[in-house]
Amino acid sequence: MSRTGNDSSQLWQACAHAKVNLHLGVGEARADGFHELATVFQALDVHDRVSYRWGEKPAVEVTGNHATGVPASTENLAWRAVELVAHNLMLPAAGTLTMEKNIPAAGGMAGGSADAAAALLLANQALSTEFGREALSMEKLYELAAELGSDVPFTLMGGTALGRGRGELLTPMLSRGRYIWAIITNAEGLSTPSVFHKLDELRAAGRGSTPHLDTEAVGQALVGGNPHELAAVMHNDLQPAALSLRPDLRKILDTGEAAGALKGIVSGSGPTCAFLCEDEETAQEVVAQVCADNRGTSGLVTTGPATGATLV
Ligand code: C5P
Repeated sequence: MSRTGNDSSQLWQACAHAKVNLHLGVGEARADGFHELATVFQALDVHDRVSYRWGEKPAVEVTGNHATGVPASTENLAWRAVELVAHNLMLPAAGTLTMEKNIPAAGGMAGGSADAAAALLLANQALSTEFGREALSMEKLYELAAELGSDVPFTLMGGTALGRGRGELLTPMLSRGRYIWAIITNAEGLSTPSVFHKLDELRAAGRGSTPHLDTEAVGQALVGGNPHELAAVMHNDLQPAALSLRPDLRKILDTGEAAGALKGIVSGSGPTCAFLCEDEETAQEVVAQVCADNRGTSGLVTTGPATGATLV
């Protein structure tokens, strides 16, 4: 290796956007343990700032409002993204990766996946530039994204998309207008595998939601661009399972709707709840009311759709 890592190596930066599932239909468990999904993703403006600079030693740093619980080590999924890119460019995985966390962690908003998507772009750009290699194609990056996790391909793509398979098979969807969200996060996280497992248990006992794999109503509402229409058809098959594990989320959903949200749903596997609102003032009111009435919650207001991971 002829180059050494030093401050003359360029600092590359990217935005890593959160997502919300407007529809999350969950089919049966597959032989590989994953569930077949029919989901509609929307990327949100709220984003982490991820940066990478080539250097000889591997280093991972985590800062920001939502850094608690995020591994500041090579265990972080985003570092695995750097490793995959380096491996495919036949280079060593090294350098400093920094994540400034604004997306609540372990909350069903794909913050970890978004950082990994941003790290794929960053490592690809930085390493190919630093070492004069041909960069990996976007097609290859999508393949690596799917290897990293079910939500990583969408956080790379952004916008609004239908996700099939385990969520990694994406088709962009037409979406008109901007949607305003009050997002309520929770001090205590919820493990994604345990929520899927709970849904299997509920279904085996004849109590879980039947799979809602038809996304047509959401697709039509998005073309219309009317948040009232979208609110009427938003759905999450994982919600009964998340509520069964965390009954406190029911009160959060009720408080948010009573405060004026058009509709509140558990975001992905939760415990984050997402409230679609008519305007920003209402969204601020939803955050204020829910946080005042529910211990351990905090909130933010954001809009969608936004872009996927983007180099800045
Ligand atoms: O792909 P990802 O690492 O995000 O998935 C985390 C876990 O969520 C999986 O190990 C699995 O238990 C569950 N999952 C699932 N079906 C999916 C996506 C995730 O059962 N389609």
